[in-house]
Amino acid sequence: MISPQDWPEPIIRVQSLSESCKDSIPQRYIKPLSDRPSINSILETINNIPIIDLRGLYSTNPHEKASTFKQISEACKEWGFFQIVNHGVSHDLMDLAKETWRQFFHLPMEVKQLYANSPKTYEGYGSRLGVKKGAILDWSDYYYLHYLPLSLKDYNKWPSLPPSCREVFDEYGIELVKLCERLMKVLSINLGLEENFLQNAFGGEDIGACIRVNYFPKCPQPELTLGLSSHSDPGGMTLLLPDDQIHGLQVRKGDNWITVKPVRNAFIVNIGDQIQVLSNAIYRSVEHRAIANSHKERVSLAFFYNPKSDIPIEPAKELVKPDKPALYPAMTFDEYRLFIRMRGPCGKSQVDL
Ligand code: OGA
Ligand code: NI
Repeated sequence: MISPQDWPEPIIRVQSLSESCKDSIPQRYIKPLSDRPSINSILETINNIPIIDLRGLYSTNPHEKASTFKQISEACKEWGFFQIVNHGVSHDLMDLAKETWRQFFHLPMEVKQLYANSPKTYEGYGSRLGVKKGAILDWSDYYYLHYLPLSLKDYNKWPSLPPSCREVFDEYGIELVKLCERLMKVLSINLGLEENFLQNAFGGEDIGACIRVNYFPKCPQPELTLGLSSHSDPGGMTLLLPDDQIHGLQVRKGDNWITVKPVRNAFIVNIGDQIQVLSNAIYRSVEHRAIANSHKERVSLAFFYNPKSDIPIEPAKELVKPDKPALYPAMTFDEYRLFIRMRGPCGKSQVDL
């Protein structure tokens, strides 16, 4: 399998559609009945995923510390998703990162088009995932960038406007990598593994990290479409900085979709497919999606912390037992990602295959 070089049909920016289609959305964005958000509306509850205060991890009180580890362990098993507060990342930096990206999406279209992406690496300004001709599309645009490894970091692919953006995103990336390293230790210990196990399995210091900034323009018929189709995140772990004005993220819980209520200044953490594999499904990457809305644009920053792309990822030997055989064969993240990029978001079918 080689990476496709170009999109199967011309790219239309959803932001432009949002400005030109005031009453109805084009056919290409209308989802089948079973995928529309309204169908399940009785089952959609505004509930919340667990909210965990990370200050407890460094508490001198052993009970508080143990309780925080336990909350994270249960959240990973029950939900695959949780919000974290007191995570150590500056709130000003979080606001600045979000605001700077919002400004990027408000630049004139001809400026944004300079960064138009292709399915070869997906880096840059994009409006679709997957290369299937005639696919039904999601109501969002995005910007995708590599932070790590440094060999893949290419400032030419980063926007040069707004002027502060490269500096802001660099600092944001550094802080989020540190936070992910701390969380990886907690997850390793909770799985009964040595504290550096997951980090080492990911490649030690040679991990991968990228960001997708999602831009969900206003949508005249949010009940017919989705901002982002159901998927699980293919990488290791995701830190999502949501828009705290507008709800949009929904997490699957059994047959229900739970609409997450973001806590101000929190990050939403979720387990990706690679940690599902390494943990031999003790932790599972959970399906999620984003709904569109008619009143306000929404911006979210998804930071993906991934294994080094060319080392095989397989269930930890310590978690494979006679009664719990390895559920997945070894596969590199490069091989896995290529498979996903061809198909676009498809629930969780890829990891369960
Ligand atoms: C993602 C994602 C959800 C959101 O980018 O992978 O799940 O609410 N985003 O933006
Ligand atoms: Ni996601």
